[in-house]
Amino acid sequence: MNLVDEQIAVITGAARGIGRAIALRFAANGAHIVVSDVDEAGAQATAAEIEALGRQALAIKTDVSVANEAENLIKATVERFGRIDILVNNAGITRDSLLMRMDEAQWDAVIRVNLKGTFNCIKAVSRPMMKQRQGRIINISSVVGVMGNAGQANYAASKAGVIGLTKSAAKELAARNILVNAVAPGYIETEMTRNLPAEAVETFRTLIPLQRQGMPEDVADVCLFLAGPLSAYVTGQVIHVDGGMVM
Ligand SMILES: NC(=O)c1ccc[n+]([C@@H]2O[C@H](COP(=O)([O-])OP(=O)(O)OC[C@H]3O[C@@H](n4cnc5c(N)ncnc54)[C@H](O)[C@@H]3O)[C@@H](O)[C@H]2O)c1
Repeated sequence: MNLVDEQIAVITGAARGIGRAIALRFAANGAHIVVSDVDEAGAQATAAEIEALGRQALAIKTDVSVANEAENLIKATVERFGRIDILVNNAGITRDSLLMRMDEAQWDAVIRVNLKGTFNCIKAVSRPMMKQRQGRIINISSVVGVMGNAGQANYAASKAGVIGLTKSAAKELAARNILVNAVAPGYIETEMTRNLPAEAVETFRTLIPLQRQGMPEDVADVCLFLAGPLSAYVTGQVIHVDGGMVM
């Protein structure tokens, strides 16, 4: 059963990592994908992989933190495909530092991409989805937004903000049959976590009951559930994909 057959999905930050895994998982389940990223070459590479799976793909360079770029992304999607069924707000960055040393630029950059970028894309997509009277929005948060993390005050605040944004959007959009949920990954093997200090990696490992690092595909599978018919009565939720780190 193709869970998202012929659906049109926009995925931000899909040049690599978790976003790329979501794009490929959705395409393997029948969706056509708009691959969006600041990294244009990476977005095109993911789009080529989707086309190789026999699905349509469109790569669009977008900085989600800029409101009119987010608007253009959604506009270009509707122009090409006539509608938009699924939005995954996955683009995210870290600028880690202890609070005392964190400068304004580090704080602003992370809030701008992770939180404002998610708001920009939700706002842009809400009008076409409301017209359609259907849609799915999936926001990638983090366990750090729930637990906090030393050295990541900016990131934790942005990801906690994404949870509040998710619940508010879920309440505002439910009457139009637009479901909005968040996924909170734990410690997932991607470029983002590749350069963590060894002691941070060890601390994470001791906190994971399933005793392994997650893979991008573990996150993609839960996003597929939230994008498809098996989650028709689920909205405003935060689903942890973290090997049991937070329970
Ligand atoms: N890896 C983890 O352990 C982990 C854990 C929890 C949450 N997350 C979240 O999952 C999401 C994906 O993370 P990842 O590990 O794949 O990271 P990654 O760094 O491998 O990929 C992030 C992608 O987002 C893109 N991006 C960055 N800024 C952007 C912008 N302004 N506009 C558009 N695209 C932009 C990057 O170019 C990159 O392709 C992020 O939101 C991250 O916070 C990751």
